[in-house]
Amino acid sequence: MNYRHAFHAGNFADCVKHALLVALVSALCRKPAPFAVLDTHAGRGRYDLSAEAAGRTGEWRAGIGRLCGIGEGPLSPWLGLVRAAGFPPLYPGSPLLLRALLREQDRLILCEKHPEEAAALRAAMGRDRRVAVHERDGWEAIGALTPFAERRGLVLIDPPFEQPGEFARIAGAFRLLRRRFRAAVAAAWYPLKHRAPLREFEELLREAGLTDIVAAELTLREPTDPARLNGCGMVVMNPPFGFGGEAQAILDALLPRLAQQEPGAGAEVRVVADE
Ligand SMILES: C[S@@+](CC[C@H](N)C(=O)[O-])C[C@H]1O[C@@H](n2cnc3c(N)ncnc32)[C@H](O)[C@@H]1O
Repeated sequence: MNYRHAFHAGNFADCVKHALLVALVSALCRKPAPFAVLDTHAGRGRYDLSAEAAGRTGEWRAGIGRLCGIGEGPLSPWLGLVRAAGFPPLYPGSPLLLRALLREQDRLILCEKHPEEAAALRAAMGRDRRVAVHERDGWEAIGALTPFAERRGLVLIDPPFEQPGEFARIAGAFRLLRRRFRAAVAAAWYPLKHRAPLREFEELLREAGLTDIVAAELTLREPTDPARLNGCGMVVMNPPFGFGGEAQAILDALLPRLAQQEPGAGAEVRVVADE
């Protein structure tokens, strides 16, 4: 539990994750029926990019720092929420973005295991009857808190990838959700350092018989150096109708701003397992 997202908030990987997340939840909002969202690894909710932690790495400068001027196009729904949350210097994490998209009838469940992060998250969320903050293990919460009474919604899995076995845990969570909560949209962020672990992960999903899975991925450079974050992606089971096209447009808009024309840079949405 050494990971602190404050050092990385607003970096290119957050931009990819958050822009795609807004597209996923906006798709759920197209139907009036209520939905719930479970954010299993919620973080502290809001990050001050002028604070010491963000300044020490400066990662946000190569992420949200390059996107400030954009006012239209596929990134604008997310960037509008970023500005509304007080950027700059405040940057909204997944909990604040998700809450901004909730309607009166929807619900948000946030899990954060680190006590200090969970306390900061509680403070950032304030009082909102639609939102529940839990200081608890997000993996365990997937089994305990699904299926949702609403029978529709999203489970977002965004672990720190500090420990080995995170890909296998995501595959396990997807299997569980498919069994218990067939209608759930499940989305998990993943780092792309080199291709081998990702290939194994995708194989694991297919071997488990899971279907209807896509991966939306942005690569900064050829992923050959396992010590560097060379790209990242979001794997989505049961993607909403039209998500593939929207995700590709989002990644295409991010790529020229976030990547530095290194060999192997690219943006793609690919089918991991057929419908
Ligand atoms: C990548 S950050 C989350 C960022 C957040 N989802 C966002 O987009 O703004 C991962 C978070 O998971 C927390 N965490 C680590 N292990 C956890 C666990 N087993 N259950 C819940 N939270 C955990 C960490 O303390 C950290 O705040």
